[in-house]
Amino acid sequence: MTASPFPTYPPQLEADVLVSARSLAEYTDMFGLDERDRASRIVDCPGGAASAVAELGAAGGDAIAVDPQYSLGADELRARVLADVERSVTESRRRHPDYDWDVRGGVVGHEEMRRAAAETMLDDLCARPEKYVAGALPSLPLASDSADLVLCSHLLFTYADILDFDMHVASLVDMARVAPEVRVYPLVDHSGNPMPEFIRSMISRLKKARLTCRIEPVERPFQLAATTRLVVERTAHRRP
Ligand SMILES: C[S@@+](CC[C@H](N)C(=O)[O-])C[C@H]1O[C@@H](n2cnc3c(N)ncnc32)[C@H](O)[C@@H]1O
Repeated sequence: MTASPFPTYPPQLEADVLVSARSLAEYTDMFGLDERDRASRIVDCPGGAASAVAELGAAGGDAIAVDPQYSLGADELRARVLADVERSVTESRRRHPDYDWDVRGGVVGHEEMRRAAAETMLDDLCARPEKYVAGALPSLPLASDSADLVLCSHLLFTYADILDFDMHVASLVDMARVAPEVRVYPLVDHSGNPMPEFIRSMISRLKKARLTCRIEPVERPFQLAATTRLVVERTAHRRP
């Protein structure tokens, strides 16, 4: 493992971030995953209680998740996940106009999907604990080039109120150390505010680290304000 030149981020912030549970269908939409992506070595960070790794694994894929909450014991993690899923669906209901509910089968369909994702992830965690690695950005406990693609959903940008600019840059640099391609979604904060200046400055900093960025449209966004994802690649990297 190559050590990151950046300091570990203060762990007390982990308590403030919701452990949410998205499904592989949601990841497919957010990250534009195609068949080739799903067959590649994927790191989901933060994995939270998302079921992407479980679902990919069940289909014969090679995916692992990284999240600081995986250091909790199984019972404590289960309690935290189930409580946070309820917090998350309550919050989505409260902000009803911010979402395109048709994309997720209405309010009921969405809530069923989130609860099912959490149960799928928790079952997989018991069955395949080695696929759930305790660790935190901006310093992943993974070897350089140990994956083809890192997916980062609902941490960076979403929590830009508590994770500062340097943390974002350091995290993206470290994810690009682990895999030649990193996809991040969404590019708005948790209130749906765009952050064009923050993103412009970040792209410029990443360029100096020999990382190329592009912003792609997202089809069928559930969060209406979150219409794009960021793709970060090593400058020399070209997928064959
Ligand atoms: C909103 S959840 C997103 C989970 C999943 N990606 C999804 O979309 O459902 C945010 C996750 O970030 C994790 N987290 C908090 N600080 C982190 C850090 N420094 N590095 C990696 N993950 C972190 C939390 O534990 C939580 O599980």
